Amino acid sequence: MTRARFTAPVCAGIAVLLLFAGCRTAPKEPDPSPEQQLIDRGRALFFEETFAGNGRTCGTCHPVDNNFVLEPKSIAGLPERDPLFVAEFVEALEDNFENPRLMRDFGLILENLDGFGDLENVFTQRGIPHTLGLRRSVDSRDGPRTGWSGDGAPLDGSLRAFSVGAVIQHFTRRTDRVAGVDFRLPTDAELDALEAFMLAQGRQEDLALPLPLKGLQAARGQELFNDPTSGKCFGCHVNAGANASPAVFGPGVGNINFNTGVEALPDQPFDRSGERVPPDDGFGVPGIGEFNIPPLVEAADTAPFFHNNSVATLEGAVAFYNGDAFNNSPAGQLLAGATGGPINLDATQVEAVSAFLRVINALENIRSATELLEAIRDNRRLVGRLSKEQPTVAIAEIEDAIEVLEAGALHPVASAALREALAQASTIPGRVFSTGRVARAALKALLEAKNDLVET
Ligand code: HEC
Ligand code: HEC
Repeated sequence: MTRARFTAPVCAGIAVLLLFAGCRTAPKEPDPSPEQQLIDRGRALFFEETFAGNGRTCGTCHPVDNNFVLEPKSIAGLPERDPLFVAEFVEALEDNFENPRLMRDFGLILENLDGFGDLENVFTQRGIPHTLGLRRSVDSRDGPRTGWSGDGAPLDGSLRAFSVGAVIQHFTRRTDRVAGVDFRLPTDAELDALEAFMLAQGRQEDLALPLPLKGLQAARGQELFNDPTSGKCFGCHVNAGANASPAVFGPGVGNINFNTGVEALPDQPFDRSGERVPPDDGFGVPGIGEFNIPPLVEAADTAPFFHNNSVATLEGAVAFYNGDAFNNSPAGQLLAGATGGPINLDATQVEAVSAFLRVINALENIRSATELLEAIRDNRRLVGRLSKEQPTVAIAEIEDAIEVLEAGALHPVASAALREALAQASTIPGRVFSTGRVARAALKALLEAKNDLVET
C-alpha cells in the first residue's frame, strides 16, 4: 500500500506545509463592519456583474490592475472576444454603438451624452478616465460633477446616477436600449454598493502643497505650478487635485468646469483616420463646451490625456497650456485677463512642471503599494480587495512608479530601489512560504525610494 510508505517525518512535513498553505489562503479577518461589507459587495458588482446585458462589466473598461483605465496599449493585449469588442462580433451592436477603429487606435469610447435620440449623428468619442480618488474629485458648489464634462450621468449627476448611465450606455444588447430586455437596471442597494466601492478607491485626501521635494527639477516644477505669474496651474488644480482654488473662486468651489480649448487643438491624432469624431460639446444638453477639472496626482500613469485622448505624453499635456488653443480659449482669456498675460512656459519649465507631476504620481503609487504590502505582510485582506488581487495591484503600482520616473529621466536612486521592491513583490503571487519576509523587504525598498523623492 502506498500510504504505508509515508514515514512519520514526511507526514509531519506535509502537515506543516498544509498549515502554511492554510495561513496564506485564508487571512485572519475581523468581522467586517456594515460599511466594509457594502464596499466588498460593490467590488463584486463592479468586476463581475453584467446586469443581464452584453457581457461587459464596469471592470471591462476600468480594470483594477491598470489604474481603472484602458489605453490603446492595454486594449491591444485583450483577447479578440473580450466583451469590450462586442461591436465587432455582436450583429445588433455593429452600428452606432462603438467605433472599433477609434477604440483600438486611440482608446476612444462612444458616448451619447446628449441622449439616444439620433444615434447616427449625436455622439461623442471620449477616453476612459480613471476612477481613483473620486472622493476628492466629484463634489462642487453646484452639485456632483462626474464624467469628463461633469454631466456624464443622468438625473442628479451623482456617482450613483453615473452607474445607471454606464449600464444603459455600455451594457446594452441592442441599441434600442430597453430596460428589462437589453439589460437590467441596477437596484438601489446595488447603486449604494457601487458608490461605496468607487469612493473607497485610491487617494482619500488631497495633498497639501508644497511638499518638501528633494529633486531639484520637481521642486522647481512645483514652484512654477503654484506661481500665479508663470505656471498658474494651481488656480484650477489646487494641490494638484481636481478642485479649483478657493482663494481664486471662493470657498467650497470644488470641481468646476472650463472650456480650455482642447476641442480647438489642430492636428488631433484621430483627424486623419477618416473616422467621424463630431465636436464634443461638453457640459449640458446642448453643451456649452466646458469640461471639468481632472485630478493631476494620478495623471502621469494614466496617459493619454484630455477628454478625447488628444495628447499622448505628459510633457505634451503641460505644453498644451502654451499654445493658441488654450490661450485663445474662454478659460485662457479669463486667466490672461486676471493675471496679465497667457501661460508661457519654456521647454525647461515644461519639463520641470512635468517632473513635479511625475514625482507626485510616483509618491501616490508608493503610498498605494505600501498599503497593499503592509496588508500582505500582516496577512490581512483590505476592504474592497480580493486577497489574490493585493499582490497584483501592488506590483502594478510599483511598475507605474518606475515607468513615470524613468520616462522623465528622474531620480535614478529611487528607480533602483523601486526595481528592488518590484523584484521582491513579484515573487509574492503563488508564494507559500516567507510571504511576510518578502513583503517586508519590498516595503523597505519602497521606503528607500520615497526617501529619495521627498523629505520624510
Ligand atoms: C465601454 C467602456 C466603459 C464601461 C463598460 C464602463 N465605463 Fe465608466 N467610463 C467610460 C468612459 C468613456 C467614461 C468617460 C465618460 C464621460 O466623460 O462622460 C467613463 C467614466 C466613468 C466615471 C467618471 C469618473 C470621473 O472622474 O468623473 C465613473 C465613476 C465610471 N465611469 C464608472 C463606471 C461604472 C460604475 C461602470 C459599470 C456600471 C462603468 N463605468 C462602465 C467607459 C466605460
Ligand atoms: C482654467 C483652468 C485650468 C488651468 C489654469 C489649468 N488647467 Fe489643466 N485642466 C483643466 C481642465 C478643465 C482640464 C480637462 C480638459 C479636457 O479634457 O478637455 C485639464 C486637464 C489637464 C491635464 C490632463 C489630465 C488628464 O488626466 O487627462 C493636465 C496634465 C493638466 N490639465 C495640467 C495642467 C497644468 C500643468 C497647468 C498649468 C500649466 C494647468 N493644467 C492649468 C483646467 C485647467
